[in-house]
Order: sequence, then structure tokens, then C-alpha cells
Amino acid sequence: MELYLGIDLGTSSVKLMLCDGEGQIKNTVTKEYAVSYPRPGWSEQNAEDWWCAVCEAMPELLDGFDGQAVKGIGVAGQMHGLVVLDKDDCVIRPTILWNDGRTDKETAYLNEVIGKGTLFEYTGNIAFAGFTAPKLLWMRKNEPENFARICKIMLPKDYINYLLTGAHGTDYSDAAGMLLLDVRNKRWSHEMLDICGITEEQMPRLYESFETVGAIRAELADQFGISRNAVVVAGAGDNAAAAIGTATVGEGKCNISLGTSGTVFVSSNRFSGDAAQAIHSFCHADGGYHLMGCILSAASCNKWFCDEILNTKDYRSEEQAVGELGKNEVFFLPYLMGERSPINDVNATGMFIGLRPNTSRAEMYQAVLEGVAFAIKDNLEIIKQFGIDIKSSCLCGGGAKSKLWRQILANVLDIELNLPTTEQGPGYGSAILTMVGAGRFESVRQATDKFFAIKETVKPDRELARLYADRYEKYRKIYPAVKELYQEIK
Ligand code: XUL
Repeated sequence: MELYLGIDLGTSSVKLMLCDGEGQIKNTVTKEYAVSYPRPGWSEQNAEDWWCAVCEAMPELLDGFDGQAVKGIGVAGQMHGLVVLDKDDCVIRPTILWNDGRTDKETAYLNEVIGKGTLFEYTGNIAFAGFTAPKLLWMRKNEPENFARICKIMLPKDYINYLLTGAHGTDYSDAAGMLLLDVRNKRWSHEMLDICGITEEQMPRLYESFETVGAIRAELADQFGISRNAVVVAGAGDNAAAAIGTATVGEGKCNISLGTSGTVFVSSNRFSGDAAQAIHSFCHADGGYHLMGCILSAASCNKWFCDEILNTKDYRSEEQAVGELGKNEVFFLPYLMGERSPINDVNATGMFIGLRPNTSRAEMYQAVLEGVAFAIKDNLEIIKQFGIDIKSSCLCGGGAKSKLWRQILANVLDIELNLPTTEQGPGYGSAILTMVGAGRFESVRQATDKFFAIKETVKPDRELARLYADRYEKYRKIYPAVKELYQEIK
């Protein structure tokens, strides 16, 4: 039996998955690690913690399997994080993550002084606080000694690939989120590198996600008990990999992910985008492109409300207490880490509105799930402006496991949601990319055509979708009404 190893380097944990050549998942192991929030709106992680977690998970994953049958490894990772290495390839400082909002000044400089139109011309995107380029500008100003030591700039999963192979590479789907790549033409933007004060030598080499960056280092192969011939593919940003895992490839397919972040991902064979919209135009891991809206807090809102506020781990009981859908008076803005798409506002914060003396815990919980669904709808509405009308989508991510949330989402969005038989989005996607890199398939499409199947479809209910359409009209008035206040009270 041939084996392929897919790794999903997430924000709260790393998930390792072993898959056979028929796409069957043979084993999975998850190891958690911490996020640190050193100041309000900041979020960081130690790159070394990711590697320790991978090394800890590996023997458990391979226990009972023939490591010599492993043909390759692929890593999908949380996007945009700034990993900086010195001349000895040592990590210079903790990674500034995708949902870190410290770069509001740098983001405003890029969007307003360089200008959104120029940024779009150089990169196909405008600036968002979580993107990598504003982080480099922040580091240059606030940590000049660290900035001067930078020899290589990498994204989180690229650091794992570097440790696996010794090669400095990245793939187009992840590189697209740096605001340093000319996405349309798939090459580093020299204008953007200049703006950030860096050179192409400091950037990793670019690959398609399914291309191999090298073989696993021999001593590591021996340590893990994996074949020395196992290849390592470039891998992908987690959203592109999740989209591969749900067969969201080719023209006009949609995948929605309810992970720590929430994303609406629409695949395309052509580049498209618009400087006027706060939506991302990135490369896809199948060799094409995609549009994506990203909300910074999705399943993390559910986790925060249950763990921190209700002090429970029993999410199911909270769900069971929820009453009739569509009629809740309470609204929740899910901006716990500021917000990316479409409002692009680091100062926005989470907020409940509509509380009364008889408001119940269940209504507040329901409002949290609904608020995330409304924020996802905000993104679907923007994508409509590109002439793309989504009637159905795949759904993946931890939040997709909740039946109630699936139902709320299908009705708020008024589209059909398809659950794939394989729930393991990014890890499964990176295993598929590995199969292509190792020669098992000729293209990503060939693999997804073979493996993808739908387990369940959640259909919207006419009446409920109408009630939610009314509630959405109210929801969308809340942020504009408090936008200025967020600036004042920050
Ligand atoms: C996408 C984004 C997030 C992270 C989460 O632009 O920032 O989805 O990739 O891991």
C-alpha cells in the first residue's frame, strides 16, 4: 500500500493525516499549541512550537504503518504569518499571525499613500492588516535590528517544508497572501519588494503547490522511519488546500470554511479582482486562481463564547437549548480580532445588541452563530458583484460539524451546502497535492474527480430564508452605525 502524508498547520493545532493512494484516510493525529496575544489585537506563535508538535505527532501517526511506503509529504498552512530567518536559518522573532492587527498604520499607508489602485496593479490585491507586507513595514520601523538580520522571509508552512527538506520554497497560493506577489503573472513584484525594503534574494523560490521542493532530509527520514525517497511538495495556503480537499477546482465552484477564520472561496481558471472591493484575488493550488472573502473570527467566536463566557466545553447542550430559528432579537458582530473582508477594519470589535431583561443564554448563543453566518453573507454579497451567483457550496472546517450552524448558514446564505464524505479539508487537500507531486495523478483535477463525494446536502427552507433575509437587512446596518465609535473607543 502506498501512503501519502498531509499536514494541516492550523492556528490552534497541527493535524497530520496518512492517506492511501485511493484517498482513504488511514490515520490522523492532532497536537495543539498556544497562540499568544501580547497586546490587544496582536497575535503571535513560536515557529519552533509547530515543529515540536509535528515531531511529536509523527511516531503516533506512523504507529502500525510501514513508513517505507510513504511516497510524499505535503503541508497546508495558516496563511500570511511572517516567519523571518537569519543567516544561519534561525528564527529571528515569534511569527506575527494572519489575524494580528498591529499594522493599521502600515496598512493605511499602503492603501492610502501608495494607493489601492497601484497595489492592485502590482499584486492584484489591496492591503489588509494581516497580510505579510504590512508586517514587514511594521518590523522595519519598530524592530530595525531584527529587520536588518533577515536573510529569508517565509510563510508558516514553508518553515516546516524548510525543516523537512533544507530548501527555501513557497507556493503561489500562499505567496499570493503576502502582498508581495504579482498574482496575475505569478512572480514576485519588484515594486512591492522595494516598498518593503527587501530583495528577491530574501524571498523563497516559487512553486506550484503540487510541485516537489525536494526530498525529505535523510537523517529526518531515518528519525521518522519514513522512506528516504519521500518527496515534499510545496503545499498550499490552508484555504486553497481545503478547496482541493472539497474538489473546489476549475471554474465557479465554491467552498465555505468555518475554521478559526471563516472563508468563502470561489475557484476560477482566470485571474479576476477589483481594487474597490475588500476581497482577495489569489492563486489556487490547482494551478488556477480564486477569489476569497475572509472573516477573522468564525469557529473562534463559538469557542470564545462557550469556553470563556459560558465556561463550558459542552457545545452540544448549548446548541440543544436554541429555540426557533429566524426570530432572535439579539444580534452579534463577530469582530473579535477586528475584521478583514469586506470591512477591512482592525478597530472593529465584537458586540452584542438587542439585549433585554428576558434575553436568554440560548438567544445569545444563537446570535453568535448567526452573526458569523451574516458576516459570511457579507462576503457572498461582494462576490455577487463580480457576476458570480453562488447557488450551492461545499462546507468544511470545525464549525461544519454543528448541525445547527449548518442549518443557520444554509438559510442565512439561502444556498445549498454540501458536506463532503471526507471532512478533513486542508490536510486532505495537501495529501492530494502530494499524490500529484509523487506522480500518482497527472493533475489535481484528476485526483479530485476520483475522490470527491457528497455525504449530505443541507437545503434552505423558504420561510426561514425569508426571515433571515429580513434579519440580515437589520444586521448590516449595525456596523456602519458604530464604525466611527470603534475609532474613538480603541
Ligand atoms: C486567509 C486567512 C485565514 C488563515 C487561517 O486569508 O487569513 O483563513 O489562513 O489559517
